Amino acid sequence: MKVSVIGAGNVGATCADVIAHKELANEVVLLDIKENYAEGKALDMWQTAPVNMYDSRITGSTNDYSKTADSEVVVITSGLPRKPGMSRDDLIATNAKIVKSVTEQVIKYSPNAKIIVVSNPLDVMTYCAYLTAKIDPSRVFGMAGILDTARYRAFIATELNCSPKDIQAVLMGGHGDTMVPLPRYTTVAGIPVTELIDADKLEAIIQRAKTGGGEIVNLLGTSAWYAPGAAAAQMVEAIVRDQKRIFPVCAWLQGEYGLKDIYLGVPVKLGKNGIEEIIELQLNEDEMALLNTSAKAVKEVMDVLDTIDY
Ligand code: NAI
Ligand code: 2OP
Repeated sequence: MKVSVIGAGNVGATCADVIAHKELANEVVLLDIKENYAEGKALDMWQTAPVNMYDSRITGSTNDYSKTADSEVVVITSGLPRKPGMSRDDLIATNAKIVKSVTEQVIKYSPNAKIIVVSNPLDVMTYCAYLTAKIDPSRVFGMAGILDTARYRAFIATELNCSPKDIQAVLMGGHGDTMVPLPRYTTVAGIPVTELIDADKLEAIIQRAKTGGGEIVNLLGTSAWYAPGAAAAQMVEAIVRDQKRIFPVCAWLQGEYGLKDIYLGVPVKLGKNGIEEIIELQLNEDEMALLNTSAKAVKEVMDVLDTIDY
């Protein structure tokens, strides 16, 4: 089985490395437009195999999509990352061109692939890939919720000085500052988080999670890659191992949560067919209002995509 990762930059290379390390596919193809870049990274990764004891074959390619043919899953990470002072939405025009051209090639060589989009602005680039691929939306979706939830869970683990393994949480909405962490659906080994962290501290954690991407951009001068790469690989794992895991994923909504014709983060069941179910939580009025605000923000940027020439 083959999995391809497009874009051999920070996120793509990390994602490919995790996929190989976990032996999620016997063939991992890393592709980039930059001459020899993917080949170099793939060769370096392959030389970790005898040390890390795995046998997934990793190869690199400079823009030759025939090498990605018949991939089961393709992860699209190609595109510019944010620099300090930029929002994810500032990337729209440049990244739409990239995501469109990449998706055309991906679908030409792997018509049955599940496509995971990572490029920003995430919800809108997923929409762009969907418009280009012209396949069922159960096979085109975006990675953001696992990363955003991971940040939220990591901050809770730090606050409680407990294992992050024990923190379960749901977070919905777009991949931006309007995302909606849901304390009512957050537990620590089954204990509601509201019984362990007081309201003010929890609110501060929620705010930090919402701006967690920007916090790293300010520290590093570019956006994060370890957690995003691992999060995308976790989605690959759920698909190739048909795990039926429930994750927040950027999915095409057709009436769920009262929202239609929009890509937005919601809990889904992820298995061999891609998105196998969208799970509808019984949100209360406040939670629904936050989700609607986030949907409005995403829709505005989707509308921009619909009007620009890319
Ligand atoms: P990077 O700059 O390290 O890597 C991007 C790679 O894409 C570069 O190697 C570049 O040569 C390649 N590329 C550009 N145009 C291409 C094309 N037409 N075909 C193939 N490859 C092409 O950037 P990084 O940090 O890996 O981020 C990648 C994208 O992922 C950015 O848009 C970033 O904003 C986004 N991102 C999304 C996250 C999420 O949660 N959804 C989290 C982190 C980053
Ligand atoms: C992140 O959240 C910038 O989307 C990127 O790290």
